[in-house]
Amino acid sequence: MSEKIAPEVASDNPVGIPGEAPRRDFFKRTLAILIGGIVTVVPAVAGLLVFLDPLRRKNKNNSGAIRVASLSALPNDNRPHKFSVISSRTDAWNKFPATPIGAVYLRRTGEKQVEALNVICPHAGCFVDFVPSEKCFLCPCHNSTFALDGKINDPKSPSPRALDTLPVEIRGEEIYVQFQNFRAGVAEKIPDA
Ligand code: FES
Repeated sequence: MSEKIAPEVASDNPVGIPGEAPRRDFFKRTLAILIGGIVTVVPAVAGLLVFLDPLRRKNKNNSGAIRVASLSALPNDNRPHKFSVISSRTDAWNKFPATPIGAVYLRRTGEKQVEALNVICPHAGCFVDFVPSEKCFLCPCHNSTFALDGKINDPKSPSPRALDTLPVEIRGEEIYVQFQNFRAGVAEKIPDA
């Protein structure tokens, strides 16, 4: 009777080094875990970046200034002219309809130089009027008067401070103002919340 010879089977450890097969399994498992981790984390991070993109863009590009008028709409006559401030309010993800949020007096002091004053009287919040004949601002509520640059005219003025100046940026032919209201009735210029 002839003896059966078993077929040769390919082995994971052909040379028979002790511990080689478990080490190879360990590397395979580690590699699988790493690839699985990358496949899970990369799309999650990419999604998060896309989600936060509006916030990043807002921080980079938005100085808070609002376009109020064109230079061509503001006569170069060293007189204050009143303009509404219209805000197209946007947060990171939404754009809201244009809404009036206040008004400013703009005065051109040079070819490309403009000063801005908030129209609100710092005494109790009435709107001041410009009086061309007197070349000053008058508050109709308690008769405070202010010079062209907003300083208090009359020492007896009940207003605790000058009219509030606002930063202006000229971008090309457009006038942008960093509009802000301030607390009334106090000497310090404290932004309203
Ligand atoms: S509110 Fe303007 S003087 Fe009082």
